[in-house]
Amino acid sequence: MKKYAQIVGWGMYAPQRILTNHDLEKMVDTSDEWIRRRVGIGERHICAPGEATASMATRAARAALEVADLSPSKLDLIIVATVTPDYQFPSAASIVQDALGASHAAAFDLNAGCAGFVYGLYVALGMIGAELYRNVMVIGSDTLSRITDFQDRSTAVLFGDGAGAVLLTATDQPTGVLSCVLGSDGSGAEALLVPAGGSRHPATVETVQNRQHFIRMNGAEVYRFAVKAMADGARQVVQMAGLQIEDIKLVIPHQANIRIMEAAAKALKLRPDQLYCNVERYGNTSAATIPIALCEALAEGRIKPGDYLLLVGFGAGLTWAAAVVQWGAPVGAASTPWWRSVLHDLRGREAAVRSLTLRTRRRLDSLRGADGRAD
Ligand code: UT7
Repeated sequence: MKKYAQIVGWGMYAPQRILTNHDLEKMVDTSDEWIRRRVGIGERHICAPGEATASMATRAARAALEVADLSPSKLDLIIVATVTPDYQFPSAASIVQDALGASHAAAFDLNAGCAGFVYGLYVALGMIGAELYRNVMVIGSDTLSRITDFQDRSTAVLFGDGAGAVLLTATDQPTGVLSCVLGSDGSGAEALLVPAGGSRHPATVETVQNRQHFIRMNGAEVYRFAVKAMADGARQVVQMAGLQIEDIKLVIPHQANIRIMEAAAKALKLRPDQLYCNVERYGNTSAATIPIALCEALAEGRIKPGDYLLLVGFGAGLTWAAAVVQWGAPVGAASTPWWRSVLHDLRGREAAVRSLTLRTRRRLDSLRGADGRAD
């Protein structure tokens, strides 16, 4: 029997610290009025010094496990979509795997810019559909504040930090992720990139002095690409699912700019109630915008079992991705009793003990020369 991938858990995390447009007015030559009118952002969340992509991803994933009431040991695969991993390597996903105590999970990062979360959904669908894995966690997590040039007004106002996660599980019911389309046009790579720090231009004193470790963007070019990619991708994926745009209950687009979302909505002739936007409160959190918006739409009661959702993103690459999802899981407070939080909190502590034990054993092995190197 064919296997489908259904979302059974979801969670998000946004750091406590908020950076408002008025705060930015003190940092660069900008205004609250310009940012709201041209981009639609009012504020964004910014990581504290001890936080980063993997720690945010872990919090979002823990929340998703709690909603699904699944033990981390049952996870088969963790995918973290990100452009801001904690390190060049190891992957943020491996750090998340350890922090969750997901002892049987494979883990890797996926870089498809802001389209990464929907790319991750398609990978999960493929793995589950091929019956290779049963439970896959897909996380979008980004710490763009660490690669944002707060001296450049054209980008400083756009970005924020956050994470969102969904847990997909195998089902025989023809529901969940119904169709997906992924795309890439690398001829547009230079429109949105961090010039240095990779293998082409490794870090030097000059790259640091020239501020080449921060995001550089041709905003107008990305804008034009985004509207077309979102509208084309959306039409294609809806058709693949055997649906019409009118059948979609909620479109959850990548949250980069309210004007991009409204232009794509106009091209698709969406009703106002079909478009979900929360860019005003988070800014662009890259791979995290779609899962964060999904979590908020669920919390607001905008999604019910049986509804068709359209998730559509675009980003650095240039890339785009769209998916139609039929919602299948129960939604609402009744599905998360209080004791579940206690149980999952204990599992979090167990994961910390497990990690400490493994680290200690590794240290002792190396002191004892247990690998034979001391002989
Ligand atoms: O996740 C994917 C990542 N990126 C995106 O999706 C971004 C796509 N692009 C955009 O959202 C828009 O192009 C921006 C928001 C980046 C810029 O908006 P725009 O309407 O395309 O403005 P613009 O770049 O054409 O600039 C218009 C004016 C310029 O002044 P002049 O040359 O007309 O005098 C800019 O210097 O606005 C000025 N400007 C600003 N003014 C105040 C640019 N940034 C700011 C600012 N505050 N922060």
